[in-house]
Amino acid sequence: MNRSGSCNAPAANSAQKFAPQAPICGARRDPVTYPVPDALDEVCKRSTAKLLYCMPTVHNPTTATMSVARREAVAEVARRHNLFIIEDNVWAAVAPDHPPPLATFAPERTYFISGPAKAMAGGLRIAFVHAPEGQAERVRATVRMTSWMAAPLMAEITSRWIQDGTGERLTEAIRETITRRLALAEKYFRGFEFRSDPAVSFFWLELPSPWRAAEFRAEAEARGIRILTGETFTAGRDPAPHAVRISVGGKHTYEEVERALATLTEILKSPPGAATAVM
Ligand SMILES: Cc1ncc(COP(=O)(O)O)c(C=O)c1O
Repeated sequence: MNRSGSCNAPAANSAQKFAPQAPICGARRDPVTYPVPDALDEVCKRSTAKLLYCMPTVHNPTTATMSVARREAVAEVARRHNLFIIEDNVWAAVAPDHPPPLATFAPERTYFISGPAKAMAGGLRIAFVHAPEGQAERVRATVRMTSWMAAPLMAEITSRWIQDGTGERLTEAIRETITRRLALAEKYFRGFEFRSDPAVSFFWLELPSPWRAAEFRAEAEARGIRILTGETFTAGRDPAPHAVRISVGGKHTYEEVERALATLTEILKSPPGAATAVM
């Protein structure tokens, strides 16, 4: 089923199933195998959670991919608490190898969403949803309610690009660009605690002490570099990690990306405070 973009798809799916005022809770994560099944179990016990939104393959922003064992455990917790799952697979479309979707471990409760935004072009504004058996009509009804239909022209372009090989060529070109730019990140951030994945044009940097994420962002912005802190991705009022997401994508030149990365490492090597000092 087509939707007008993967971001729109989870919103419409959950609006159709759950009250708009439903609370958003975060479950404790670990950076490698997010989310932690025990923590998810805890959240379900102490809340009225009905829905788990997750990115098991190449999580944005940490780039973590859940192992098969972790997928099985998360599916089991979801089943026990009757949670629906929205599996956002949009980045995985660029990853050449990855474990089977979470949807294969809990097909009766998972809305699997993917699309060409990362693997072909963000401007296509199309997403694909695979709904649990018997649920597709409800999703269709929400599409009618929220946007009437996905733009047919975009659906046509996307399906032609998939069929005639253009999509695969675009994905290859994207992979090549990411590989070159992540090599730059590796050059500048070797020795720091950072995580990346060959499928995504950003990396996740745990800031060395005593840096705090907001201070680092302010210093970067004072030099014209925009980055995102862990806070942007934190659910509700949970504490945010002292970490940042640094993108090497976008339409900047290779040289511009290199200059920005060099500047960020210079900032990290100096003491925090210049841009945020208050008396
Ligand atoms: C986790 C995640 N899902 C989906 C999308 C893309 O959504 P859309 O298809 O609406 O462009 C993004 C884009 O950054 C994303 O990070």
